[in-house]
Amino acid sequence: MKVLGFETSCDETAVAVYDSTKGILANIIHSQLTTHEPYGGVVPELAARDHLRYLTPLTKQAMREAKVTHEEIDLIAYTKGPGLIGPLLVGGSFAKSLGFAWNIPCIGVHHLEGHLLAPMLDTNKPELPCLALLVSGGHTQLYKVKQLGEYELLGETLDDAAGEAFDKTAKMLGLGYPGGPAIEKAAKTGTKGKYLFPRPLSNQANLNFSFSGLKTHVANTVSKLDLTAENVSDVADALQEAIVASLSNKCTRAMQETGISNLVIAGGVAANSRLRHELEAVVSKEHGRLFFPPPILCTDNAAMIAYCGFICYQRGEIDKSQAIEPKSRWPL
Ligand code: KG4
Ligand code: ZN
Repeated sequence: MKVLGFETSCDETAVAVYDSTKGILANIIHSQLTTHEPYGGVVPELAARDHLRYLTPLTKQAMREAKVTHEEIDLIAYTKGPGLIGPLLVGGSFAKSLGFAWNIPCIGVHHLEGHLLAPMLDTNKPELPCLALLVSGGHTQLYKVKQLGEYELLGETLDDAAGEAFDKTAKMLGLGYPGGPAIEKAAKTGTKGKYLFPRPLSNQANLNFSFSGLKTHVANTVSKLDLTAENVSDVADALQEAIVASLSNKCTRAMQETGISNLVIAGGVAANSRLRHELEAVVSKEHGRLFFPPPILCTDNAAMIAYCGFICYQRGEIDKSQAIEPKSRWPL
């Protein structure tokens, strides 16, 4: 089965073709970085207009790369939510129109389920049941994955997402947007232990996270410093260490509470190599295995959406109505 996938929930316009026997045939991502960079964050209206501009050429390019004609496509999958309403509306309208014109089924999928399933696209597939840490720009959640489609939320952030903490700190340090990769790079030359930032909720016997206090802590620290390259690197390292420690602390607790020691990490922040390294250590201590997608499948992409559409289709889920119903908020 060949699935054409679209991802337009935020600031990446992505189109992919997934083949259920051959794997990913095309995976094209257009980042809107330069559009939003001057504003220090995503401007929803500009994002929606950019999706509209790029969807048609990127779809043609993806199908050319995948060497498929529209007659060979069996299913269209698109991100129905959660995300920015304008961008979701553009992607949903485009996907549904194509489905209608080509007379093939269309399926709106959950962006976070897409992220959770991304590691399944790897040859080294996670063993189930497993725990899954989903860390993106808008979400920080810990799930128990009993089987595909059966997810139990064990804990989540009470305020900011981990990615948001990276992005906001990067802005304070003048490192630009998106912050995660810039903080990771700056932290490499930071002096270990120069600053110690708080690890909120780490002594609490639950699986929740909190990152908004970190922002205040960084702001207080930065206000007393000259932003020299050295100071920026030291603060970046302290921030990264605090986030990594908070995440690994709750992953350890979750493994001990559930007795499940296989862990999947997904979402943009899962591209962070310091986090991967720390979680490798945690997992091996608990005698489990760590699974993560390659960086290109961690951040927003349409291959995970096409694959998720395929899994949902196998479960018998399909959009029955022609209505476009984007969901800005949508629990998994
Ligand atoms: O999953 P994603 O691409 O989009 C959302 O659905 O939110 O995640 C984007 C987030 C951003 O906050 C970005 O700063 C963060 O992932 N990110 C990283 C890294 N690469 C992306 N955070 C830390 N280290 C990275 N290498
Ligand atoms: Zn995402």
